[in-house]
Amino acid sequence: MRSWSVAIAFVVVGTVVGCAHAPATPAAAPATAQRPGGEGGRGGEGARPPQGVATVRRAPAPPNWERQDSVRKALMAEVLATVAGRENEPAGTVFKNVKFSKNMPVKDFLVMMDEQYGRSVGATCTGCHANTNVGGVLKVDYADDSPKKKQISRLMEQMTQTINKELSKNKGLDQPYIRSTCVMCHRGTEHMPTTMKQLKNSDPPPQTRQKG
Ligand code: HEC
Ligand code: HEC
Repeated sequence: MRSWSVAIAFVVVGTVVGCAHAPATPAAAPATAQRPGGEGGRGGEGARPPQGVATVRRAPAPPNWERQDSVRKALMAEVLATVAGRENEPAGTVFKNVKFSKNMPVKDFLVMMDEQYGRSVGATCTGCHANTNVGGVLKVDYADDSPKKKQISRLMEQMTQTINKELSKNKGLDQPYIRSTCVMCHRGTEHMPTTMKQLKNSDPPPQTRQKG
């Protein structure tokens, strides 16, 4: 177990943690989740629960990606500094507690944390990793497995790999093999729309052709 201390203004972290649900976070996610797609948040599925009763999955407004980006960037730089010179070694040997992607070079592993695990689900690093914030000094323990979001994310990784295995069996695809990722489903948010009704005309089309 190791932890890195990162000095980031408390006020900045407090407003961008987003999906952290950390007990000590002052700016915890507001309970008034808005559904995207409908004017005044009135879009969404047909059957709706009585107001204020959280019985169905929520689709809150997307987080502030730019603000989160800068926090993740700062934390990435801190982690990279602690493993300087070992960026090309496998994540499984440099870090203590990596179960998947063990052979991925450290620098690629951290890019994956930033883009796939972070931006794609609208989270900063502390959204999944155990942390304390004392007097504005943020300490993150990346190897700690206790946060629920980290545990769920491992299951998500497992699921993504299973999908890839199944997908590669389908030889009839226009493109021989599309690799599924966290981005494929999440697109920047933890709780994403699941019906076309929730999508606006200005949203990107559900599929984008890729080269290669
Ligand atoms: C959506 C949840 C999530 C987010 C956000 C996230 N991580 Fe992770 N992180 C994980 C999971 C899950 C693992 C374990 C991966 C595995 O076992 O293969 C992990 C592992 C790590 C490890 C290895 C720790 C060790 O010692 O074993 C580091 C370092 C790390 N993350 C850094 C970061 C950084 C830096 C960020 C922000 C840029 C970040 N993570 C964002 C879920 C997340
Ligand atoms: C095949 C689609 C799919 C893929 C791929 C996928 N997820 Fe998810 N994920 C979901 C769904 C569906 C939910 C539940 C959404 C909801 O509650 O609105 C979810 C929920 C989550 C949550 C929130 C859990 C909670 O507390 O409610 C996290 C964090 C998460 N996923 C991380 C990841 C990460 C990291 C990856 C890539 C390793 C990933 N997901 C890949 C479909 C996917």
